[in-house]
Amino acid sequence: MLAAKIILDKDFTLGEVDPRLFGGFVEHLGRCVYGGMYEPDHLSADENGFRTDVLELVRELDMPVMRYPGGNFVSGYDWEEGVGPRDQRPTRLDLAWQSTETNQFGTDEFVQWCRKANSEPMLAVNLGTRGPEEARNLVEYCNHPGGSAWSDLRRKHGFAQPHCVKLWCLGNEMDGPWQMGHKTAAEYGRVACEAAKLMKWTDPSLELVVCGSSNGGMPTFAAWEAEVLEHTLDHVDYLSIHTYYGNADGDTPSFLARPEQMSDFIDQVVATADYVSAKRKSRKRLMLSFDEWNVWYHSHGDREKRNIRPWDSAPPLLEDAYTMEDALVVGGMLISLLNHCDRVKIGCLAQVVNVIAAIMTQPGGPAWRQTIFHPFAHVSKHGRGTVLRQVAESSYYDCKDRAAVPHLTSACVLDPDTGGVTLFAVNRSLDSRLKLTVDLRAFAALHVDEWTTLRHSDLLAENTCAAPNKVQPAVATGAGVDDRVLTAVLEAASWNVIRLTPAK
Ligand code: AHR
Repeated sequence: MLAAKIILDKDFTLGEVDPRLFGGFVEHLGRCVYGGMYEPDHLSADENGFRTDVLELVRELDMPVMRYPGGNFVSGYDWEEGVGPRDQRPTRLDLAWQSTETNQFGTDEFVQWCRKANSEPMLAVNLGTRGPEEARNLVEYCNHPGGSAWSDLRRKHGFAQPHCVKLWCLGNEMDGPWQMGHKTAAEYGRVACEAAKLMKWTDPSLELVVCGSSNGGMPTFAAWEAEVLEHTLDHVDYLSIHTYYGNADGDTPSFLARPEQMSDFIDQVVATADYVSAKRKSRKRLMLSFDEWNVWYHSHGDREKRNIRPWDSAPPLLEDAYTMEDALVVGGMLISLLNHCDRVKIGCLAQVVNVIAAIMTQPGGPAWRQTIFHPFAHVSKHGRGTVLRQVAESSYYDCKDRAAVPHLTSACVLDPDTGGVTLFAVNRSLDSRLKLTVDLRAFAALHVDEWTTLRHSDLLAENTCAAPNKVQPAVATGAGVDDRVLTAVLEAASWNVIRLTPAK
């Protein structure tokens, strides 16, 4: 049997988890909005046309922030066309996803949906085909109480109270040549700086996210961050970071190691942000917004395979059906986010419904939880508090692009109110159980309250409309605390949540 050991001390803390780490992302892409969140003819639709079965599942994920409306879509979006009477909204070609956008759902509907989902909206502005002027107008439309043209227009549309949107993204992935209005770092840095000034002058309470690289593999990665921050450091509050992983070549040991790569990526972005602060003699420690992350690869090539034609409206794009092994990687990515909670304050699972999503729907039919839904729901529910520093040792393995990958990846979160600790852990071994011991020497007596696992004999098992609960959490037994040492044997290829509470 494999083995791993962790030593914890309640006073050795890494940082506080910002609940916004558990946010989501909604884009006008495929069936995310139309047929996912919004389906007026659906049996469960409410007075706004929102699917209440989907809303219920989103509330279960408990996502405190929701990023919208893109993604690549935002870089060609005219927000003004998505507000006001629906019958006057124009239909447009969306060049990002070669789809037809009806504009039947826009900013006001999104804010209304967020209120029902218990999420705060996080809006992205178009810095691709448009600029600072349209961005500050949108801030005025959303947040100014009234007495100006844009705020009065919102009131005329039936929203007397301002939407009070705090968190804003200055464009999306502007380093990517695929982006409408793609820019060099210098061009983007200047535009982002000017947009930030105008937006904050309109509403000084805003928090702004400037675009980092689209992913760590971009040829301009790190140089992009450094140059963009040279222009914007004093005007922004967060730097964005995005990543998606896949297992197209079926190399599962390497795939399960991807969360280590995610941790390296975060460290590199933090180092680059701190380099700019040092260079500018600034004491600012810029925080990160990991506002797109997930597994994404199953749907690559779907346009051809599913014969999706250009300019369809809400076509089934990016509909990854997630497997058990994807859930292990998503669990590992959540662990990586927790273990960087001192610098990563915002996270957005990309995306929420139908499009590389935790939740799937059938048109006119049911909604169900994909495999990745489960680790996200667990961490969102039990991962709020103080992350503890771990002194950890684990057996390890080598894989194609990485040596000495620990079989165990874990994060430990202290609930300061109860004194309880939740341990999230993945055993990455595909064939061996792992004996985990956790030395709790500095804690008052704790006992195992609950141990939940997610595993399946078939790592490629999926949840489908016909079998929505094929992969679902189960209660595990056999863990115990003796003389302040927790012992648990983790099954091969398993996700685990062990909740320890103070003994009465
Ligand atoms: O989430 C899907 C796409 O991935 C987003 O539109 C884009 O920002 C990223 O490249």
